Amino acid sequence: MIKKAIFPVGGLGTRFLPATKAMPKEMLPVVDKPLIQYAVEEAAEAGVEEFIFVTGRNKTAIEDHFDHSFELEATLGAKGKDEALDLVKDMLHNPGSVFYVRQQQPAGLGHAVWCARHLVGSEPVAVLLADDLILGASCVKEMVDSYKGGNMVAVMDVPHQQTGSYGIVKPGTDDGRIVQVEGLVEKPDPSSAPSNIAVVGRYIITPEVFETLAAQERGAGGEIQLTDALAKQIGKAPFTGVRFSGERFDCGSKLGFLQANVAFGLNNDQMRDELHDWLGERLG
Ligand code: G1P
Repeated sequence: MIKKAIFPVGGLGTRFLPATKAMPKEMLPVVDKPLIQYAVEEAAEAGVEEFIFVTGRNKTAIEDHFDHSFELEATLGAKGKDEALDLVKDMLHNPGSVFYVRQQQPAGLGHAVWCARHLVGSEPVAVLLADDLILGASCVKEMVDSYKGGNMVAVMDVPHQQTGSYGIVKPGTDDGRIVQVEGLVEKPDPSSAPSNIAVVGRYIITPEVFETLAAQERGAGGEIQLTDALAKQIGKAPFTGVRFSGERFDCGSKLGFLQANVAFGLNNDQMRDELHDWLGERLG
């Protein structure tokens, strides 16, 4: 039902300097796979067939990652390393289904998404932020499975004092999984936050959102916010939040990134037992 997804990958990743000085933060690996590949696989699992990356300068490693690497493939083939060869070949998408557009300046998430407007037709599109890594079932698939039109965000309950780090929902009816969104505000102070229901970086947005983004209005932090454009659609189109079943890691923070590596390591058949024992010894 949702055939296209946008991946905003133009951010500078300053929180991970010096690691991200010459390497995009989306290429940071969790165990053995870059963050962006997890997001792309999650979207593909939900039926997405066209992948739109909103990149920036110094991000060409992402384009190379989703392309053939002839020297590598030839070498692996010649050495009979079939498993590794399959790994690098199987992740390639159909020719012509991966698109790149540059966000020329970092003017906010809303601006990044708007930069993809000419590649999005008249259908709803998914947006995935690779910083938000989700362990377990595909969050976007869960969203698509409950999608009945309009705009949709993935949500999770966060400690009240953390509302300033997220888009926060003003909830209407809430059955514990699906919450009707009656208001949405970007990074409110806990004292004024309408709830502790936070937006996680997974969205399904309608083409009308691009029309709102075209006004280029600045919001929190002086940036063009996707949250604000979505909020303007309230009352005009259905808007729901979905509490997803997986566990989310904030890989935009060093601690969240480390936690993700441990959690994904413990989830990996080849290293679970050794990592578990090592952690046990280490922690006494
Ligand atoms: C972005 C969005 C915010 C959302 C968050 C989820 O913020 O603007 O609404 O809650 O992602 O990770 P960022 O973390 O990029 O500042």
